[in-house]
Amino acid sequence: MSKSIKKIGVFTSGGDSPGMNAAIRSVVRTCAYHQIESVGIYRGYQGMIEGDFKPMNARSVKDIINKGGTILKSARSDEFRTPEGRKKAYEQLKKENIDALVAIGGDGTFTGSLIFNSEYNFPVIGIPGTIDNDIFGTSHTLGYDTALNTVVEAIDKIRDTASSHNRLFFIEVMGRDAGHIALNVGVGAGAEEILIPEEDLGLDRLLESLRRSRRTGKTSSIVIVAEGDKIGKSVFELRDYVEENLTEYEVRVSVLGHMQRGGSPSCFDRVLASRMGVKAVESLLEGKSNFMVGLNDDKMSLTPLDQAIKGQSKINLELLRVSDIMTT
Ligand code: F6P
Repeated sequence: MSKSIKKIGVFTSGGDSPGMNAAIRSVVRTCAYHQIESVGIYRGYQGMIEGDFKPMNARSVKDIINKGGTILKSARSDEFRTPEGRKKAYEQLKKENIDALVAIGGDGTFTGSLIFNSEYNFPVIGIPGTIDNDIFGTSHTLGYDTALNTVVEAIDKIRDTASSHNRLFFIEVMGRDAGHIALNVGVGAGAEEILIPEEDLGLDRLLESLRRSRRTGKTSSIVIVAEGDKIGKSVFELRDYVEENLTEYEVRVSVLGHMQRGGSPSCFDRVLASRMGVKAVESLLEGKSNFMVGLNDDKMSLTPLDQAIKGQSKINLELLRVSDIMTT
């Protein structure tokens, strides 16, 4: 391994996700294992600009593998979008003798890293952390598995009350640009319909599907709606529309919101985070830069950061079909 890198900075940026702490722990411990230094950069790019750094060691990341959120905090930084902001960040990193970065986050985080790298040639490896799973180059992002389990548990609870009152529930789940959460929890929790950004189901088909389920003897139903669904109506507008057009239905709405991002990471996310942290640090030590670590066919992989940003994480069409068949 190349020893030209002696100190690695690690930060989290964008929406937090369960497993980020486990990834920070892995990065710091892999650095310790290879006898190089590590520094925690607080509040993402904004903390980088302000020099909000803390030297880390193997012990400073104890007791965090099981914790949701991120101990390094996350923040949006308008200043980092400016050349002056990035210059300040570079000067702070140099002052601290940081040689390379591990960036844990999503699209926005990686875009910032790429611009920074093109200006200052600063080595960086990304770790995909978002519950939305909307990043190309990995089958799973950190936090996605935990979020699926959290959401399914919530829907199961809503189902109890939905069936007691013979009600139809519209449940909004996260996923501004992608329907991965909606599609998977929809199948996993037995939803009647799943509305996702990648597919335009259309209002007529929705009504038809709900009518059909009444005809076939269903008394309560769950419809999962991804935030970014293409029908273009909010869950509350959908409720009003269905109540106007299908008077036999009593409709309620539940927006699950940010509870989906919290909680203790699943075993899957902890293991994934541990693997990704090792791969990220060792890739930097091998002289690699501008890659995102990913999981593909249960193996660690590297995808160029620009591809990870531009590429599309495709929706699982087989799962869409399974969902259709299950609602027969
Ligand atoms: O982390 C991604 C995401 O969960 C999206 O699904 C959602 O739209 C967004 O975060 C919410 O972000 P914020 O916390 O900034 O409102």
